[in-house]
Amino acid sequence: MRGPVYAVVPAAGVGERMKAGIPKQYLTLAGKTLAEHTLGRLLSFSPIDSVIVSVSSQDPWWPTLPVASHRRVSTVAGGKTRAESVRNGVAQALMDGGEEAWVLVHDMARPLVRLSDIQALMEQCDEQGAILALPVVDTIKQSGEDLHIDSTVDRERIWRALTPQLFPAARLYEALSADLDGVTDEASAIERQGGRPRLVAGQSDNIKITVPEDLPLARFYLARQFETGE
Ligand code: CTP
Ligand code: MG
Repeated sequence: MRGPVYAVVPAAGVGERMKAGIPKQYLTLAGKTLAEHTLGRLLSFSPIDSVIVSVSSQDPWWPTLPVASHRRVSTVAGGKTRAESVRNGVAQALMDGGEEAWVLVHDMARPLVRLSDIQALMEQCDEQGAILALPVVDTIKQSGEDLHIDSTVDRERIWRALTPQLFPAARLYEALSADLDGVTDEASAIERQGGRPRLVAGQSDNIKITVPEDLPLARFYLARQFETGE
């Protein structure tokens, strides 16, 4: 990785499934908002030069956070979908950092990402890019529309994609400039262009806060990380 590394953090979602009345990134976990947890971790990782956050224009909460005025944090407009929000951030990284820039895309809703995982991702990344992922542990079924099982999928090489996901900014921008229908992570956009990003095994506590019961779970994982010195 030669050029500067920008963290691009999509944070323009409304958190519908969380049913909290405010976007979930502004909910509090151990006295800090999820957004502050996430950004605090990214900012403390020295290979990351700066952090670009995609924020909705209708978001009155973001400007109230102290981290919003951090000198290494800037914002871009959010999009209608996560992929559009990411594309806006990647465009900014390219403008600021040029063709050599790399982008590390990380969901604002994953406040528990470990620095050791980001480190492993950077070490194992090659020119194709790389993502954190977890091997599935359950048996996987393919169903018909009638919800009856058609087959059992061999889970040997099935992974769940997490974030961060790391790519050369120019390559990701090109991939995100194509049709984004059905693109739910950066790797899938790259795959459509024929790329084969590397999988790096992450930790299972890097959860995406999505539904109300994820908050007590996050509290538990955070305390455990604290106890074990992560
Ligand atoms: N995101 C974004 N722009 C959007 C939609 C989502 O930047 N138009 C961000 C979210 O803020 C979040 C990340 O993408 O940090 C992952 O998305 P998700 O977990 O789906 O968050 P929400 O879209 O906010 O939640 P929901 O789908 O339940 O409404
Ligand atoms: Mg969403």
